[in-house]
This record gives sequence, structure tokens and C-alpha cells, in this order.
Amino acid sequence: MECIAVINQKGGVGKTSTAVNLGAGLGQRGKRMLLIDLDPQGHLTTHFGLDEAAPDKGVYEVLTGSLPLSEAIHTYSPSIDIVPAHVDLAAAETELVSVVGREVILRDALRGGDWPYDIVMFDCPPSLGVLSLNAMCAANRVLIPVQPHFLALQGTGKLFETILLVNQRINAALSVMGIAICLNDAGTRLSSEVVDDLSAFLDSHRDSNVPWCNARIFNSRIRRNVKLAECPSYGQSIFEYAPRSNGATDYLALADEVLAVLSGRALPVAVETTDQIDDESSDADVETAEADVSIAAETVDGMAGDDASTSEDAPRETPMKAAVESASKPLKGAEVHRAPAEDVAMAGDAGAIAPIRKAPARKPPSVANRQAS
Ligand SMILES: Nc1ncnc2c1ncn2[C@@H]1O[C@H](COP(=O)(O)OP(=O)(O)OP(=O)(O)O)[C@@H](O)[C@H]1O
Ligand SMILES: [Mg+2]
Repeated sequence: MECIAVINQKGGVGKTSTAVNLGAGLGQRGKRMLLIDLDPQGHLTTHFGLDEAAPDKGVYEVLTGSLPLSEAIHTYSPSIDIVPAHVDLAAAETELVSVVGREVILRDALRGGDWPYDIVMFDCPPSLGVLSLNAMCAANRVLIPVQPHFLALQGTGKLFETILLVNQRINAALSVMGIAICLNDAGTRLSSEVVDDLSAFLDSHRDSNVPWCNARIFNSRIRRNVKLAECPSYGQSIFEYAPRSNGATDYLALADEVLAVLSGRALPVAVETTDQIDDESSDADVETAEADVSIAAETVDGMAGDDASTSEDAPRETPMKAAVESASKPLKGAEVHRAPAEDVAMAGDAGAIAPIRKAPARKPPSVANRQAS
């Protein structure tokens, strides 16, 4: 059983739309899905029209130990079951604060059953608190929706650091499967800059053992599509509400890509290089890529204002630069710092990230394996 956490602490980037419609797309492809709403806003629950259904039988009751997971599962369709969330879930953060092992409650609940599902998917809230940690501890894969707009990547380094901490201290099986570009305005300079920054970041870690060393940016971009914004109010996924819309097309394509990754049919991601990369040259590559993006930004027409006035003296500071530095620094030089599981929760809550062991260099994959983009 695959468990995928859809996570990004930034709000409004398409997490719920992705959990709902990717989940429904995977259902269309014959997969038996369990979708777990971990957001006190309960948007996934609303999206499937389950707001009024059994308000006392949801993920809050499971996390606080008053209900077994099996009794919190509601059937939406033959291929989709839901564990709903209601606003009371917000209290779980504080109610669980003194509970030992609060990050692994959901993992243990899932381990405790013989479930009929192919894939469990978690819709996480826009924060890195105990609810998101429960998803990361129960999951074996992380899918990160990103909206390619200004400041979209702010805080991404923090997300990767938290994933790394969970991977090293609680859940060694956790890896980042990929980044899904959502709410995409195809053809805009901003969109391609964000994707370039993300690619540079991921490529700079291909030869390390961080949990995102094999992560990809999915080729299927989710275009901005009004039908996707409308379908929640009808309590339907895009495949029921507007099956011929761009939204349905894009999420089905993403579902096929995800299935290819899960089944091992997807081409491996690789960095285009022939020599063994050491950490310094890897950093230099990132800097070069950023400089290239900066230069490209200056040569593209059509953007007015300050953005277009980037000068040679002040190269563009890409949002990802801070994320790259933030996520790369702890990987260098420091000793392994083992901490109990609860420290991870504290790190996630308060931002105190402990130093992390330097990853050993590996031979990079061959150019022949490079994924067609
Ligand atoms: N591709 C799209 N085209 C148009 N609207 C979209 C698209 N994807 C999502 N939306 C809309 O954008 C808003 C935010 O999307 P969504 O709720 O999926 O983000 P989120 O990351 O889950 O937000 P939150 O952090 O609050 O949980 C919603 O109103 C949703 O209907
Ligand atoms: Mg949401």
C-alpha cells in the first residue's frame, strides 16, 4: 500500500485540489483510494460533500484515540473512501501536545489494519505542525504542489528540512516523489523561472542521499481552470463535474505519471553530467543555474516595472536561492545529531532545525538516463 502526503505549508497552492482530483484520477485508473483530510479547514471533506456526514467520526477522533480508524472511514464512491475532518481538528494540535508519540498516531492506526486500498493520500494543512508530521510519519512518499508565482518558493527550504528530519529520525522510508505545478499560467516568465529554480535545486542534490534526490517535477502541469475552482461547491471531483475540462485532462495526466513512478515505469531523473560531483562543484552548478536564470530574465521582454529593470550590478535574487541555501547548509559538515521523535515535532513547530550529517557523494547517473522533459 502506497501512502502519499500532499504537503506544502504555503496556503492556497493546490494541495486539496490535488488530493481530491489526483485521488479521483487514480480511482479512475482502477486504484482503490483512501483520502484522509488532515486540515481543520476540512476542504477535502467539503469537496466530497461530506460536511454533514457523521461529524463525530473523523480524523480528530482517530488522533485523539476515541475512535478506531476503521470507524472513521466513509465511502464516497466504489473507488474512493474518505476520512473526513471538521473544525474541531484544530484543537488536536494543542490536545496532543503532551502525548508521547503524537507524530505516529496515524502511522500506527494504518499499520493496525488489513486495508483494501492501493493508495492512501493525505491532504495536509498549510502548516508544519503535528497534523502534517502525522502525514509524513505515515507516508512513504511526499508530493509537493507548488504554485509558480512570486514568493511561491518561500519556505520551501524549511519544508525540505522537515522532510529530512522525519526521514532521518522517524521514517526512513519517506522520500519526495515529486513536485506538481498547480494553478499554472503556461508561458509566463514567472512560471518558467520558478520551474527552473526548482529544477536547479533538485538537480543539485541528485548525488546525495537526501529524500528528494530522486524527486521530479511532474511533466503534467495543472493549468489554471475555472472548473477546478467550481467543482468543490458541487461536492464533486473534476471528473464528475467537468470530465472534458482542462482540469480533468491535467489531473488524469498527473495520475498516469504518478502511477508510472509508483510502478517503476517512469524514466529515472538524472543530472546531465559525466564526472563525479563533489559538494563544491554541485553548489557552483546551482549558482550558475541561478545566474543563467537571472540573465535570461533580463533578456525576456514583456514584463514592466522593477522586475524588468534588473541590472548587472544586482543580479536577480531568485526565491529558490534562499531555499537552496537553507536546505543545503545543514547537509554540510555537521555531525549526525540523533534526537527523539518529539524533537522533530518541535523542529517542525518552532523552526529549530538540528545539524544533519553530510551525505556521501555517489556516482551520478549516466546522461542516457536523463528524463525527457
Ligand atoms: N488549477 C486550478 N485552477 C483554478 N482554480 C484552482 C486550481 N487549483 C486550485 N484552485 C482553487 O484555488 C483555491 C486554492 O486551492 P486549494 O484549496 O486546492 O489549495 P490548498 O493548498 O489546499 O489551500 P490551503 O493551504 O488553504 O489548504 C481553491 O479555491 C481552489 O478551488
Ligand atoms: Mg487545502
